[in-house]
Amino acid sequence: MKKILVVQSSARQEGSLTREYTAQLVRQIEAANPGSWVVTRDLGAEPIPHLDGTLLGGWMKPAEEQTEEERAAAARSEQLIDELLASDIVVIGSSMYNFGITSTLKSWFDHVLLAGRTFKYTENGPVGLAGDRKVYVVTARGGRYAGTPIDFQEPYIRQLLGFIGIQDVEFVNVEGQALGEEEAAKGRAEADQALAAIA
Ligand SMILES: Cc1cc2nc3c(=O)[nH]c(=O)nc-3n(C[C@H](O)[C@H](O)[C@H](O)COP(=O)(O)O)c2cc1C
Repeated sequence: MKKILVVQSSARQEGSLTREYTAQLVRQIEAANPGSWVVTRDLGAEPIPHLDGTLLGGWMKPAEEQTEEERAAAARSEQLIDELLASDIVVIGSSMYNFGITSTLKSWFDHVLLAGRTFKYTENGPVGLAGDRKVYVVTARGGRYAGTPIDFQEPYIRQLLGFIGIQDVEFVNVEGQALGEEEAAKGRAEADQALAAIA
């Protein structure tokens, strides 16, 4: 039995490759771990607000000094962090938009990377507090970037997750989807293989 958090960030519901491949991956995880339950945070359907002055202002104050507004904003972040910390496995769907992750996924990371909750400062620098889980990331891209210096998606996501202590991260990349039929099919076949290897 595993507690699975699925974070979707494609803006589209129909025809999304990250949604298709994350769904396949979740089915595999469920089959291997009967009785698992899934919580989905769909950032495409319901984008979460960007960090703003209210939230940041509230973060700087003790809870008893926060305004109603600041408390409500902090509670929204807390809910996202609770979802993350309650999970054994996280499956992230990350569409590539303009060479990086979607702004909605960036916003999710901005909320969940919080000092005192998912990392802490120590004399020896920051230490992650959320390391006790596995993360799978499914990316989809029009071009091909894996292993090149202009892959700003995978190294960036690894850095963000590593910062909160999560080192066990596996990627499935669906690449080449805008490079013609043959390349698109090749990209899918590679992603299928990567999924099969996870099973
Ligand atoms: C706004 C936008 C920006 C995009 N930027 C890039 C890009 O910089 N590089 C790339 O290879 N593909 C880019 N694409 C193509 C997407 O990465 C590709 O369609 C991918 O399949 C999207 O994920 P999804 O299928 O889950 O929606 C972009 C697509 C959109 C809609």
